[in-house]
Amino acid sequence: MTWARRAVPAVAVAVAALAARDLIQRDHALLRNFPVLGRARYVLEAIGPELRQYIVAGNNEERPFTRDQRRWVYASAKQQNNYFGFGTDNDIEYTPGYPIIKHRTFGRAVPPSTPGAGHDVRLPCAKVLGAARGRAHAFRPESVVNISGMSFGSLSGNAITALNKGAALAGCLQNTGEGGLSPYHRNGGELVFQLGTAYFGCRDEHGRFSLDRLKDLVAGAPVRALEIKLSQGAKPSLGGLLPGAKVSAEIAATRGVPAGRDCVSPSRHAEFSDCDSLLDWVELLAAETGLPVGIKSAVGDLGFWQELATLMRDTGRGVDFVTIDGGEGGTGAAPLIFTDSVSLPFQQGFSRVYRVFAEHDLHEQVVFVGAGKLGLPDNAIVAFALGCDMVNVGREAMLSIGCIQAQKCHTDTCPTGVATQNAWLARGLDPTLKSVRAANYLATLRRDLTKVAEACGVEHPGLIGTDAVEILDGRTGSTPLHKVYGYRPGWGLPSPADQAEIIRLMTPEVPQGGSAPPSATAVG
Ligand SMILES: Cc1cc2nc3c(=O)[nH]c(=O)nc-3n(C[C@H](O)[C@H](O)[C@H](O)COP(=O)(O)O)c2cc1C
Ligand code: SF4
Repeated sequence: MTWARRAVPAVAVAVAALAARDLIQRDHALLRNFPVLGRARYVLEAIGPELRQYIVAGNNEERPFTRDQRRWVYASAKQQNNYFGFGTDNDIEYTPGYPIIKHRTFGRAVPPSTPGAGHDVRLPCAKVLGAARGRAHAFRPESVVNISGMSFGSLSGNAITALNKGAALAGCLQNTGEGGLSPYHRNGGELVFQLGTAYFGCRDEHGRFSLDRLKDLVAGAPVRALEIKLSQGAKPSLGGLLPGAKVSAEIAATRGVPAGRDCVSPSRHAEFSDCDSLLDWVELLAAETGLPVGIKSAVGDLGFWQELATLMRDTGRGVDFVTIDGGEGGTGAAPLIFTDSVSLPFQQGFSRVYRVFAEHDLHEQVVFVGAGKLGLPDNAIVAFALGCDMVNVGREAMLSIGCIQAQKCHTDTCPTGVATQNAWLARGLDPTLKSVRAANYLATLRRDLTKVAEACGVEHPGLIGTDAVEILDGRTGSTPLHKVYGYRPGWGLPSPADQAEIIRLMTPEVPQGGSAPPSATAVG
């Protein structure tokens, strides 16, 4: 057995060398956190397609994001080949509710020819945020895709840094989430500051909202807009609690709460109690900061939206933007009954709210933002057709910086360092490298949205109308999107003036050809 005596130390040395290599490298957070062991995941991933043929689930069977969807995000983030071979493996004809986007043969917009074209495309919002209400700091968001609110506390400092730097690289906005504005949010990316029920980051020592602190905060950081959080799709009407053990000195300083003590988010706001007082508060914040002010909400009972729109129409007060979060949206932690069953899914909730604003003739004055698995191009296109002006991406952005959908965000044991306050695990995530991945993913999504818009004959996804999408019924029929959701002609599109301006902004000075040079006998 001398061979065994020789082999054991050799294997031990090899494993130690591999472990050292894994610990030092920065590309893969999983390997940094779980040297050698983490490799099993990559081996399984590599032989997964073959294994799955015999044992496990198909490419479309994992949730919330299928394997195909995650593979698309990962490949886009790494700028690898994100194409799929052999054709779709979706059961298109037999899946009820499957959306089909209808391309045009001779459309107005001519797509550039190369597949890579448009990766660096500018894709600004078709509306100017805050313009309709004359806010002092109204602006046109540079990107129709932005990063959704996810707090420092639910995400690690390194994850927030990666997303903030990624936002800067991709020229988009990052929403702070309700956990305040941390040092990790100050890496160059522009921000939407979210005000939750606990007013973290802008509260006094008694936990009351402080207008002075808010003004100081937004003056000292690149905050472009304020978002009042009314509710979140995954857990509407619930407060929250960060246990004292997780309230580190850093989190305490960011939130403006004592370290080491339970940190409670109440279930209701203290600054307003109905639509009327909400609108007063919106106007106060906008007047005092000059910033556009919006609300984020999931959709349940429509009474709130009816009253809000009526008051906006009749009193002249109003929100600059409305972010609708679908019930399928994500969360750091929530009870199962809330994630599964409370609040409408995105398409149903959004279309109901849009219709209320449109019936009050306010739809062209409000910027509509959608969230709820809209970081996937097919979902996002339907959202734009329904009237979204921008989409926010939450978990898809997490995937782009390394999340493997282990679904342990609520346990503080996130293996990839994304959703944890554990210093060892968070250290595995290299924020500089992952920021590039986040930016690549955001740019790829914008490129795909642009390409689909061009295939539909328009210059911008915001110009895709409801007539360009049909919903299949799972057998032989289909229904146009406007019929499914009861939209009138023209609903879902920006005003004629906004349409003209976005077409001007999106039309290249030098036309980009989409055909071979015409021959001498070409007729048109
Ligand atoms: C870890 C995590 C933390 C979140 N924190 C917040 C938050 O602080 N405020 C908020 O409004 N939404 C929060 N959300 C919800 C997201 O902003 C987003 O609305 C939702 O996940 C839907 O987008 P997605 O499907 O692209 O993830 C959080 C989501 C996740 C996954
Ligand atoms: S716990 Fe899992 S799902 Fe949550 S961020 Fe980490 S890898 Fe992603």
